[in-house]
Amino acid sequence: MSQAESVASSMPLASLTTLHVGGPAEVWLAASSADLAEATAAPFLVLGAGSNLLVADRGVDRRVIRLGPRYNDLDDFRVDPKGWLGAATPLPGLVRRAQRFGLSGLEGLLGIPAVLGGAIAMNAGTRFGSIAEVVDEVELFVDGELVRVSMADLRPGYRRTRLPADAIIVRARLRLGDSTPERVAEAMQSVDTARDGQPKITSAGCAFKNPPGDSAGRIIDEAGLKGMRVGNAMVSHEHGNFIVNLGQATASDVMTLVAQIRERVPVSLELEWHLWGF
Ligand code: FAD
Ligand code: EPU
Repeated sequence: MSQAESVASSMPLASLTTLHVGGPAEVWLAASSADLAEATAAPFLVLGAGSNLLVADRGVDRRVIRLGPRYNDLDDFRVDPKGWLGAATPLPGLVRRAQRFGLSGLEGLLGIPAVLGGAIAMNAGTRFGSIAEVVDEVELFVDGELVRVSMADLRPGYRRTRLPADAIIVRARLRLGDSTPERVAEAMQSVDTARDGQPKITSAGCAFKNPPGDSAGRIIDEAGLKGMRVGNAMVSHEHGNFIVNLGQATASDVMTLVAQIRERVPVSLELEWHLWGF
């Protein structure tokens, strides 16, 4: 890899995920397409902010690629909010700045601790809107080349996209509306209120997707499972679809809890989390 900018090192993925669970991997920090070409020469996984991942205790044997600070264009957003933004740009920062500049479209994404690439890959959203609605074009690194596709080409759905195999989202161009800081702040207020019932402690967001027309959190709550605990992994008392890490929980604790929840609810629940290393 090119000197100084890029590093490949072994580290516990617990330190790179919001649930703080998971064993080691060889993590490649990429600063350029040349780095990506080198890093993708062997089987790999792509890591964003790690806020929707459960990583096995034994870690993963594939390379884990992260886009480095060169792919964080938060500071350029002010200069050209309609320009290309790197996939490592933090979503919370974009949401805040869009509000400050009076640009609408991102307010529904308030409180999602992703980076731009991970948010697009998952089509992150809330009932107030999803990121696919405000992304025009996406630049992918795939088969050693950069290609530009429209967001529609990625066929976004509920908490998913259909990315080509081994494609890495490297940049995206947003399509935001002209508004005022006051109006955007007002719209953000409802999103903030909708999040009041979510836990603030260590988690990876909702564990399960909502079944059509219902809420997994409500179903888990109604089954009386809040507070159910395996080791230091616990179903949040605040929201049934959040599993929280009370400290030093293992992936095995979390998976056992997931299995116990599934056994005790009357419907089949699909994981929203992506599983690595299982
Ligand atoms: P990661 O978790 O790092 O990765 C998720 C998937 O995307 C992986 O398969 C990964 O390989 C892939 N990926 C990541 N980056 C790239 C890339 N550059 N190119 C290709 N693939 C990539 N989600 C919601 O939708 N709505 C919410 O309201 C919400 N609230 C949350 C609240 C909390 C407190 C937490 C912890 C999580 C919440 N989440 C929510 C879940 C999570 O933030 C989203 O799924 C988010 O989109 C994950 O982004 P990330 O950057 O962390 O991706
Ligand atoms: N509810 C309960 N008990 C609970 C949790 C929820 O009764 O423990 C009830 C609520 O009272 C409400 C209904 O279920 O009537 C829906 O709850 P909420 O508004 O909290 O929304 P949700 O469907 O549980 C979804 C997303 C969240 C997103 C919120 C806000 C999914 C799986 N979850 O949660 O996304 O933040 O809406 O729009 O789609 C995520 O995907 O990680 C995530 C956090």
